[in-house]
Amino acid sequence: MSAYKIALLDGDGIGPEIMAEAVKVLNLVAERQNVDFQLLPGAFGASAYFSHGQSFPEETKALCDEADAIIKGPIGLSHEDSKKIPVDEQPERGALLPLRRRYDTFANFRPVSLPKGLAHFSPLKPEIIGEGIDFIIIRELVGGLYFGKKETGVNAAGKRYVNEMLEYDEDQISRIAKVAFETAQKRKKVLHNIHKSNVLKSSVLWNEVMDEVGADYPDVEVKNILVDAAATYLCLNPGQFDVMVMENMFGDILSDQGGGILGSLGLMPSACIGPEKAYYEPSHGSAPDIAGQGIANPYSMIGSVAMMLEMSFGMADEARNVWLAMQSVFADGFSTPDLSRPGADVKLISTADFGDRVVAALGKS
Ligand code: IPM
Ligand code: MN
Repeated sequence: MSAYKIALLDGDGIGPEIMAEAVKVLNLVAERQNVDFQLLPGAFGASAYFSHGQSFPEETKALCDEADAIIKGPIGLSHEDSKKIPVDEQPERGALLPLRRRYDTFANFRPVSLPKGLAHFSPLKPEIIGEGIDFIIIRELVGGLYFGKKETGVNAAGKRYVNEMLEYDEDQISRIAKVAFETAQKRKKVLHNIHKSNVLKSSVLWNEVMDEVGADYPDVEVKNILVDAAATYLCLNPGQFDVMVMENMFGDILSDQGGGILGSLGLMPSACIGPEKAYYEPSHGSAPDIAGQGIANPYSMIGSVAMMLEMSFGMADEARNVWLAMQSVFADGFSTPDLSRPGADVKLISTADFGDRVVAALGKS
């Protein structure tokens, strides 16, 4: 029997309630695939700051080090509540970025996918959606503005100033380029490279390295698009995209736009892959405004489990079964209140009920 250790960081806000549903799915997969998933819960995020004095406590680091993979819920507090935590311990800066840095999780996969049957979730018109939406954003996750040198102070003229650097070296670019080309090879062999080389020197180097790496993948067609234009095309014709690759900050912004065209970030899980370790997380925040009410949809959390099954444990078939099980719950006309639109013809169910129905559907597959 295969045995894997999985660190479970349920995070803040709706994190614990959607993680509970993901665990139900993991338990069923363990049983029917005859694998042993040893789940190691750890404190992480604002809740960890209040219980342990640190948003990424030492003991959580130790259990993540020990785990074969990490599954993480959303973190963060409301803008007001964040002020109760010192700036450097706020969960984004104090926990999430250190997690990314610790495991060098440079390759962030954000699938933007909506089968035709779920197209009603999207705000786009049916004629724009066509046969559904299905592309993947590959975001470089440990470089650029997020991790560059930062300096604040008062300049010679007595004015407060800030200097934040967008840094990449060629190795950082080539490793994400390889991931993108390899992903494109497995899909439609078209790669959209997103850049801003008409202004940014960082994009000039980025594109140079993309070209060099691309020489090893002659079967992949590269289309270079400026990031601002890409934002427009995502609304007007998302069907032209299959694999998109971009630097960290562009990826942060365009992936939220991806969530927008799906109708909700709640429909977007993600995988963050490093050379030795990977972690999996929903692309959205902790939604403190609806936490604890049992109305949040666990799709992105369960989808993150599906990505982990495929990418960390080689269980691609079972991952597909999990996706199909989730989609069948929507197809049966059920949804949670957070995803439903006023007047939509859906049967509203709770977070836990959604999870139970996914487990029931998976059990039949
Ligand atoms: C994301 C989030 C994070 C980011 C925040 C929480 C720091 O928005 O994963 O996209 O900006 O990367
Ligand atoms: Mn983001």
